[in-house]
Amino acid sequence: MKVLVATEKPFAKIAVDGIRKEIEGAGYELALLEKYTDKAQLLEAVKDANAIIIRSDIIDAEVFDAAKELKIVVRAGAGYDNVDLQAATAHGVCVMNTPGQNSNAVAELVFGLLVYAVRHFYNGTAGTELMGKKLGIHAYGNVGRNVARVAKGFGMEVYAYDAFCPKEEIEKDGVKAVDSAKKLYKDCDIVSLHIPATAETKNSINYELLKDMPKGGILVNTARKEVINESELLKLMHEREDLKYITDIMPAANEKFVDFAGRYFSTPKKMGAQTAEANINAGIAAAKQIVGFLKEGCEKFRVNK
Ligand code: 3PG
Repeated sequence: MKVLVATEKPFAKIAVDGIRKEIEGAGYELALLEKYTDKAQLLEAVKDANAIIIRSDIIDAEVFDAAKELKIVVRAGAGYDNVDLQAATAHGVCVMNTPGQNSNAVAELVFGLLVYAVRHFYNGTAGTELMGKKLGIHAYGNVGRNVARVAKGFGMEVYAYDAFCPKEEIEKDGVKAVDSAKKLYKDCDIVSLHIPATAETKNSINYELLKDMPKGGILVNTARKEVINESELLKLMHEREDLKYITDIMPAANEKFVDFAGRYFSTPKKMGAQTAEANINAGIAAAKQIVGFLKEGCEKFRVNK
C-alpha cells in the first residue's frame, strides 16, 4: 500500500517524521510530493497511490481520474472545500478531514493579526487595546471556541453567532449567544469569521451585513476568502474610512485592497494552521485515520456519502 503526502504548502519536518512513523509502522510505503508547483506533478504522483494526505491542495475530478488505485483522501485540517466530494464518491473514494487538530493555531493567529491591526501595523502611532472590546465570533466550531478562550484572556467581551450550535452550548463557555449574524456585526467592534465555504456561505459576508459595524470596526478572516463578497466589501471600505479588513487568506482582488493603506493586511500565504504543533496534530491524525481505514475499515470523520 502506498500513502502519498501531497502538500503544496509543506508540513514541518517533525510532522512528516511523525506521519512516516505511523505509515511505515503499519507496513505501508510513504511517498512525498511537497512544494509542487504544477498540477501535472500531482497527477503523476497520485497514479499508484492508495491513500493521500493533503492540506488545501485541490483534489478535483481530474485527480480522481488519474488516481486509479486510490481508496482514501484525508484532508489534514478542517475545511474540505478543496476536494470534489461528488467525484470522490463516483470513484468509490472515502474522504475525511481531521476536525479540531489545527484549531488552536488558527485561533492564535487571529490575535496575532488583531494586535497588529489595533496597533496600527506597528507604524509608531498610538493604537488601541483589545481589553474591553466586543468580539463577535461568527460560527462557534472548533476554531471559534479556541478564539473565545483566548479572547477572555485578553479581557474582551465575547459574543458568538452560530446557525447550528445550540445557545446553551455557547453560553456554557461564558460567551453571549446572539440570535442573528446581523446583530453580531451590528453590536461587535471586531468580528472573527469561522464559517466554512459552502454553497450557502459563499459571498455571504456582504455589504448588508457589514454596513452596520460600529465605528472603527474590524473584520478578521482566517476562514476562507470565498465567503467574502469582495466587491461589496471594497465598496464599503471606500465609503467607510474607519473599517479594517485583516486576513491570512489573500483576496482574489488583493490589488484593489492594498489601496487601503493602514486598513488592510493579508499574509502572503494562508498561515493559520502553519505551526509545527498544528502540522503534527493534523498530519499524524490523518496518518492514523488512513491506517484505521485501510486495516479496519474505520470511517470516523468521513465527509462524503
Ligand atoms: C483548515 O481548513 O484546516 C485550515 O484552513 C488550514 O489549511 P491549511 O492546511 O492549508 O493551512
